[in-house]
Amino acid sequence: MTATMSQAAAVQSTDPLHLIDVDHVQFYVGNAKQAAFFYAHCFGFQIEQVSDLTTGARDATHFLLTQGNIRFILTSALTAAHPAAMEVAMFGDGVKDVAFTVFDAVKAYERAIKNGAESAYEPRVFKDDTGTVTMAGIKTYGRVNHSFVSRTGAYELSKVKAGGLFKTKFKKMESGLGGGASGGGNGGIVSINEHNRKNPCGLKYVDHLVGNVELGQMNRWVKFYEDVLEFKMFMHFDDKDISTEYSALMSKVMSSGNGLIKMPINEPAAGKKKSQVQEYLDWHQNTPGVQHLALRTDDELHSIAALRARGVDFLTLPDAYYENVWKRVDAMLTQHGHTPVREDHEAIKRLGILVDADDEGYLLQLFTKPLQDRPTLFFEIICRRGAQSFGKGNFKALFEALELEQGKRGNL
Ligand code: FE2
Repeated sequence: MTATMSQAAAVQSTDPLHLIDVDHVQFYVGNAKQAAFFYAHCFGFQIEQVSDLTTGARDATHFLLTQGNIRFILTSALTAAHPAAMEVAMFGDGVKDVAFTVFDAVKAYERAIKNGAESAYEPRVFKDDTGTVTMAGIKTYGRVNHSFVSRTGAYELSKVKAGGLFKTKFKKMESGLGGGASGGGNGGIVSINEHNRKNPCGLKYVDHLVGNVELGQMNRWVKFYEDVLEFKMFMHFDDKDISTEYSALMSKVMSSGNGLIKMPINEPAAGKKKSQVQEYLDWHQNTPGVQHLALRTDDELHSIAALRARGVDFLTLPDAYYENVWKRVDAMLTQHGHTPVREDHEAIKRLGILVDADDEGYLLQLFTKPLQDRPTLFFEIICRRGAQSFGKGNFKALFEALELEQGKRGNL
């Protein structure tokens, strides 16, 4: 047994809430087939598997989309009785579940319940001759659940990553949706999956995931993550850090024990005009939910150029941003003995990428506009060169850009 394996075994025996990986992020959407096309065409995901009427699923369709170590499940209801139908009517498309792979989903669930969690659903086992997937879910803020997932046999996560089936009643889609039918005779049409394999966007994994909760509720949910999932507070920002003339928010960043995932939690703060967090809540039935998913890349310039070419709509910052950014970032990097930003400065400006530094290094980041009609969920594309923070130096410029968008929507 290797040292790593014995350490893993030791952790397994003592810590049921040891999170091995982000198993998947599930979205409830109005039309999973169309959403799959959107995320594949615009963000370069593989449309890898489907569970639908043809595989024996009778109440909902699920697509598995993958890129790097990111797994999205896009779910839409086939019947009015499926919960996705009502949720989409209430909240629009958005994140339903942030699921964690654990050694034993039942033990993780029982521990979380003992720690004070409310059950979303009791343990379920999906099983066939090849293996099992055990899932159990707890509720977190608003519409969102955390599922615990443990896997055996052909359904082990390492096998799913290598192309194995995600769960029972799923089947593979070699070419994704549309052209490039297998077995020849496709007239040389390149399938979306093949196109994306040849033209990767470079997204690797979920770096962090931000929740918006109601005014006065941030500390309640901080305590929830401390008590229930045994997370620690990683850093916090108050309205002095995150405010403009008009709008403000407060944020605390929770981190899983082993640092697998960071989950900042925002609440609105009072300003002259409406906080961006309040705008989210107003268009989300005053119900908390996931505001953004930050997806990690090793090459921000490549990823942003690829995503822009595919039609992704990003927040635009005024040119004046680049008049001050290098001075600010270089001063911080020099002060802490780090090398300067190595990416081409002109290209960064041309692509509209944001830069920030902290005492550990720098980061490059950029934010999409909302991904659906409602001003709710968006993505961040982030590349870290040492920095472990979240772009605090960009908050002011960014929020002014966000306010411009809010104003256009009549929500300021
Ligand atoms: Fe972020």
